Amino acid sequence: MKCRRCREPAVIDIRRHNAAFCRDCFRHHCHEQVRRAIDDFDMVEPGERILVAVSGGKDSLGLWQILRELGYDADGLYVGLGIGDYSDMSGSYAREFAAARGWPLLEVDLPGDFGFDVPTGSKAARRAPCSACGLSKRHVFNEAAIANGYGVLATGHNLDDEAAVLLGNVLRWETGYLGRQHPVLPAARGFARKVKPLVRLGERELAAYCVLADIDYIVEECPMAAGNRHLGYKEALNTIEERSPGTKAAFLFGFLERGHERFRGDAEDERADLGACRECGAPTPGDLCAFCRLRVRATGQPLPFLAEEAP
Ligand code: AMP
Ligand code: FES
Ligand code: ZN
Repeated sequence: MKCRRCREPAVIDIRRHNAAFCRDCFRHHCHEQVRRAIDDFDMVEPGERILVAVSGGKDSLGLWQILRELGYDADGLYVGLGIGDYSDMSGSYAREFAAARGWPLLEVDLPGDFGFDVPTGSKAARRAPCSACGLSKRHVFNEAAIANGYGVLATGHNLDDEAAVLLGNVLRWETGYLGRQHPVLPAARGFARKVKPLVRLGERELAAYCVLADIDYIVEECPMAAGNRHLGYKEALNTIEERSPGTKAAFLFGFLERGHERFRGDAEDERADLGACRECGAPTPGDLCAFCRLRVRATGQPLPFLAEEAP
């Protein structure tokens, strides 16, 4: 097996691209895929500061490294979710990565800063853990980006993640979610722009990138996610991909080129007419945003603002 670019012996093959690469050319390939995603979808404006949400896993640490190597002004954000040993470990990986490179890492801790953790929040709100967790992360990411003056928030969602989410949304014809499923979610009042620069790279490519770039990352998956629906969609897509390499990318990029536009209106309707949460100011269709409602239930305490109003 020879490297497609330089003809030296290859260390990895990517069936989807019908190509193999040596170590250096593979890193170049990963950089190019991220550069293309950013250019094709106009993810970042010149001079803009990027906040990268890092979980300590391969995707987000790989993303942070690639963005910096491409010359972007990118800092990290780690959110402590209070999921026992898993959170302790993932936080250590994120901190060690940042400290070794001298790159700024912002931290927000759900238990320390908001008084509850994901397991408690999920039980109190009778939500699946990943749902309470996803809601909390989205809220904290957005708030941290806006409060600290970052124009854009980047997450490590990769091709496998996005294809699996798309499959789930198509199976249930979730038109609002389909309208929002895009590598760029534009900024709006109260919302920072959200981007997914890894959409052109698969999970296996990120794992290989981290190994070749000497990035130490947490290999364990979140214990609360075991058996969730999303993992089932990933397995189904892997079975198909095994037989027909390239199907995953064709599914996702075909949707982005030819399907997404038809659902965009559904998502825009949902974003119109949002007011501000009276506790935290986040955009919400109601009086209190979903995160503040979760917080009230999980802590069993009225929020400071609500307490003031009580007779
Ligand atoms: P997940 O929702 O676990 O699939 O993670 C998707 C992306 O969200 C990751 O690639 C990270 O960019 C980000 N992320 C997940 N967990 C955290 C965390 N605890 N702190 C900061 N960012 C996170
Ligand atoms: Fe959110 Fe596991 S990381 S439930
Ligand atoms: Zn709120």
